Amino acid sequence: MGKVHVLDHPLIQHKLTMIRDVNTGTKEFRELVNEVATLMAFEITRHLPLKEVTVQTPVGQATSNIIAGKKLGIVPILRAGLGMSDGVLKLIPAAKVGHIGLYRDPETLKPVEYYIKLPSDVHEREFIIVDPMLATGGSAVEAIHSLKKRGAKQIKLMCLIAAPEGVEAVQKAHDDVDIYLAGLDEKLNEKGYIIPGLGDAGDRLFGTK
Ligand code: URA
Repeated sequence: MGKVHVLDHPLIQHKLTMIRDVNTGTKEFRELVNEVATLMAFEITRHLPLKEVTVQTPVGQATSNIIAGKKLGIVPILRAGLGMSDGVLKLIPAAKVGHIGLYRDPETLKPVEYYIKLPSDVHEREFIIVDPMLATGGSAVEAIHSLKKRGAKQIKLMCLIAAPEGVEAVQKAHDDVDIYLAGLDEKLNEKGYIIPGLGDAGDRLFGTK
């Protein structure tokens, strides 16, 4: 079973509270989402393997650690996921960025992929899929499926806020995927919004309400 990590660092929790606040405007909302994504990236990369190298300091030789060449990929789910990708890139600037776009079929209500572009060496990379809201889990389940279909073997999912329904859907469909969250909320309402959540993440990020 994939693990759920709710990241309780005080800075993440403080900024998440400001993100939730209905009085936080677009500019500040966007900045805060990016900042939280950076802080979450710090936690999500804890497992990266290190290797020893020797460097010359101004006063001697140091045997010290660097990251041992792990290849990473970030995949924002369009459109709200775009709000998190720059924040992750700030800490992992060498990561490649893929994109995936999904829409909900009005008849089946299932997510359908309309766009995907991934780095060519998919099977060699560890991917972090980013999307602020894990609501029903439909998009995340489909995005993970799309990446796996193209050869991705290691995938993590990073969201700001999840509903229990979304977490359960991802765990049921993809038990090898760990989920990283800033907040795990109470429920979904009848319109599919996370309660208490933060409203529509895409609209708040892009000012389209
Ligand atoms: N997507 C959002 O942007 N907000 C929610 O609460 C649920 C899905």
